[in-house]
Amino acid sequence: MTLLDGKALSNKIKDEVKVEVEELIKEKSVTPGLAVILVGNDAASATYVASKAKSCKNAGIYSVVHEMPDTISQDELLETIKRMNENPSLDGILVQLPLPKHIDTTIVLEAIDPLKDVDGFHPYNVGRMVSNLDSFLPATPFGVMRMFQEYNIDLKGKNVCVIGSSDIVGKPMAALLINAKATVTVCNSSTKDLASHTKAADIVVIAVGVPHLLKGDMLKDGAVVIDVGINRLDTGKLTGDADFEDCKDKCSHITPVPGGVGPMTIGMLLKNTVKAARLRETREKK
Ligand code: GUN
Repeated sequence: MTLLDGKALSNKIKDEVKVEVEELIKEKSVTPGLAVILVGNDAASATYVASKAKSCKNAGIYSVVHEMPDTISQDELLETIKRMNENPSLDGILVQLPLPKHIDTTIVLEAIDPLKDVDGFHPYNVGRMVSNLDSFLPATPFGVMRMFQEYNIDLKGKNVCVIGSSDIVGKPMAALLINAKATVTVCNSSTKDLASHTKAADIVVIAVGVPHLLKGDMLKDGAVVIDVGINRLDTGKLTGDADFEDCKDKCSHITPVPGGVGPMTIGMLLKNTVKAARLRETREKK
């Protein structure tokens, strides 16, 4: 069994980004800039945002965290995004999700300039991704694709079962796998007999937020398991959506939690920010 080491791989990606940033500064006098908007005081979101800002700094990317109380109106948030869209030194804009209930996430995400949409959540980028055109790819599935590439896990003709159909992970994951010529089944909480789908899969990607849902007896021998779940148990310990101890002997490859998919996500966000900075001239001509 091979452990898919997301921590080591994300360090490699961060080193790549550092070099790309140095080149951009030297050759085009462009310092990539990322704005992160954090609404409210959700502890998990605050931790993610702090981690994104720190990684930007280490990579030489300029970043600003714009904190707003959860009492702000949707219009105030939209006004902030508009100003950031017009600010030439900001290449990427990211609104940390989830947003408070009184704010319509779809309207907010659609307000971001698609050329600054480093999360890849704007319908413009979602549409381009599904059409297999160049676009910003959502960081988590983008990171999973990079893991497959790095560990030489071939996708063409493989049966892949994606468990979870969220806009952030499951749906874009399925689109990227389809583009890579895999045969993709997407399961959700209404799926009947989940095990019948996972047992037929060469690769299982799980992103549902249910600790230890995936068990060893639901897997084909030699399956690859990609566990996107990060769940905090009552003990304070972090654990995945797959029961690692139960699955590991059945697998050819498996991601640990923590240290698997999680660290990849920030690396891919940095990649997207550099990509956005390279588009600066395109934006300026608009
Ligand atoms: N909340 C959980 N995952 C994400 C993500 O990838 N991007 C944003 N903006 N918010 C999130």
